[in-house]
Formats: sequence, C-alpha cells, structure tokens
Amino acid sequence: MAHTLATAPIMILNGPNLDLLGQRQPEIYGSESLADIEALCTETAARHGGTVDFRQSNHEGELIDWVHEARLHHAGIVINPAAYSHTSVALLDALNACDGLPVIEVHISNIHRREQFRHHSYVSLRADGVIAGCGVQGYAFGVQRVAALAG
Ligand code: DQA
Repeated sequence: MAHTLATAPIMILNGPNLDLLGQRQPEIYGSESLADIEALCTETAARHGGTVDFRQSNHEGELIDWVHEARLHHAGIVINPAAYSHTSVALLDALNACDGLPVIEVHISNIHRREQFRHHSYVSLRADGVIAGCGVQGYAFGVQRVAALAG
C-alpha cells in the first residue's frame, strides 16, 4: 500500500560531492551547506505534516540501496543525483522499480545553461518532476511537490 506523509517520511537523497556544498564552487552552488538544506527540507515537510529522511552518499551503489529502501518504506523521493544524473543507468533502473512512488529530481544549478554533458539526465526519464536552477530553494519545491503527490 502506498505511504502518505502521515505514515512515512520523504526520502531526500543527495549524490556525490554534495557533502561539500558551501565550500565547493560557491559561484555555482551558493554558500549554504547540506545541513542548511536538511533544515529547510525538515521545516518544509513539517508544514505539510511530514518528516524527512535526509541522506548523502558519494557512492552509486549506496544511493541505489537507499532507493530500494524508499520503494517500500517512504512516501516519496526527492533526489539530487548530482553527477550520477548524467551517467547512471543503474540509478534510473532502481527508480523505475518504484512503481507509483512520487519522485522529484532537483538540481541546484540550471544544468541546461551549463556544459552539454549536463543537459541529459537519466533520472529525468523516471522523475515525475524536475527542478533546476532554483538554488537550494529547489529542495523546498521538491518536498512540496512530493507532499502534493503523496497526500
Ligand atoms: C547538480 C548538477 C550536476 O551536473 C553536478 O554534477 C552536481 C550538482 C546541481 O545540483 O546543480 O554535482 O546536480
């Protein structure tokens, strides 16, 4: 049975190098840290009566294991796959195994205004919505959208 915000947390997944947010290329990704984003997501989910399970990994397989976990135990997924967006068929396959689960893809930067290799995202082939170029606020939009889809 599908989870709602009342019965399960939203899984928020962050891919490689996002642990360095605030220090890494601040001219592109801004000065806020991943801890700041977690606080924003927690606050946004709470306004919708929900909670978040906020994680980051530099390892593709770990992200895939967490998608499998979300498939059974979470109300939806907000994912910033970072560079794996552009490379990972395995992550796409994992998301494709999540029938009916709301999935929102977030990118802090506008990937379409950047290098050509960032214009394509495998994850977008499964995502119900894609937010790019809204800075860290994109995570709040993602949480709001999962809340709307999951109920
Ligand atoms: C990113 C964009 C990706 O192209 C890049 O590899 C990242 C972050 C973003 O949030 O803008 O690491 O997903």
